[in-house]
Amino acid sequence: MTSPQAAEMLVHPPTPIRKVRKAVLPAAGLGTRFLPATKAVPKEMLNVVDKPQIQYVVEECVASGIEHIIIVTGRGKSSIEDHFDRAPALERFLEEKGKKEEAALVRRISDMVQVSYTRQKEPLGLGHAVLVAKDLVGDEPFAVLLGDVLIPGAHPATKQLIDVYQATGVGAIAVEEVPKDKTHLYGIVDGEPAPQPPFGQRLLRVRDLVEKPKPENAPSNLAITGRYVLPPAIFDCLERTQPGAGNEIQLTDGMRILALEQGLWAYIYEGLSYDAGDKLGFLKATVELALQNQDLGESFRAYLKALKL
Ligand code: UTP
Repeated sequence: MTSPQAAEMLVHPPTPIRKVRKAVLPAAGLGTRFLPATKAVPKEMLNVVDKPQIQYVVEECVASGIEHIIIVTGRGKSSIEDHFDRAPALERFLEEKGKKEEAALVRRISDMVQVSYTRQKEPLGLGHAVLVAKDLVGDEPFAVLLGDVLIPGAHPATKQLIDVYQATGVGAIAVEEVPKDKTHLYGIVDGEPAPQPPFGQRLLRVRDLVEKPKPENAPSNLAITGRYVLPPAIFDCLERTQPGAGNEIQLTDGMRILALEQGLWAYIYEGLSYDAGDKLGFLKATVELALQNQDLGESFRAYLKALKL
């Protein structure tokens, strides 16, 4: 049964519902869980199989129909800008050596999509990083993708959220089930089912969001996963958000206000995420994506099978 609040969210979408064209990729964090690797290299630039993490995230945006990406960077993160820029000397060198495929590969990275950059001068939290992108986003809905969360697959999580937004005009955040005894590691959703064709049981109305609850206090085992589609009203909510845990402005706190004032969906997306900003998550992503890799998968699988564990 859909509650009156969820029904209200569905019958009063803002008209017209604007297209989601932009995405914000916060990538200004210090990556302390991955030291010492991240002392001089941004964690978003750590390589997973054959490309930096953030390229997977940019590719997810492109596959989801995003036209303009805004990357929020900080001190020591300029290699991210270089990666998505043209590299004329390298391209010329490769062409001259007859390495046409490699030259095209390098060029494709910079031709994929329009990318803008803005800097968060201090890492004051994920919510603050999103707020820094306010002027570049303007008055339109936008996606947020964490630069160190990988969700590979043919059906991008961001596209799934855009479909929810486009159908309802209400913001949506991706959630996935986690073991009940691990809720203290995540932002957890307190939601009520709001089944709606074509989204069915995967759609929930967010009643509240709880940051890292102990298992006994957790309202569910649905964890926020690092993909969001939000209306521009989130900026006003973030401006009213007081610093929370770690004296940081938390995106979760801003979204709690949004959920109360305008409604918010949680969507149990189809797919699997890797927290590649964490050493174990990074290793899992590396092994699983290597196994799926067209060129390397077969020989890597044979190597793993032959390992004497
Ligand atoms: P994390 O909490 O995973 O990033 O934030 P972190 O703070 O760099 O990591 P640890 O905990 O110290 O290892 C999720 C995403 O939000 C960005 C990060 O770059 C990451 O992609 N972020 C976080 C910002 O852009 N600014 C911030 O102030 C905090």
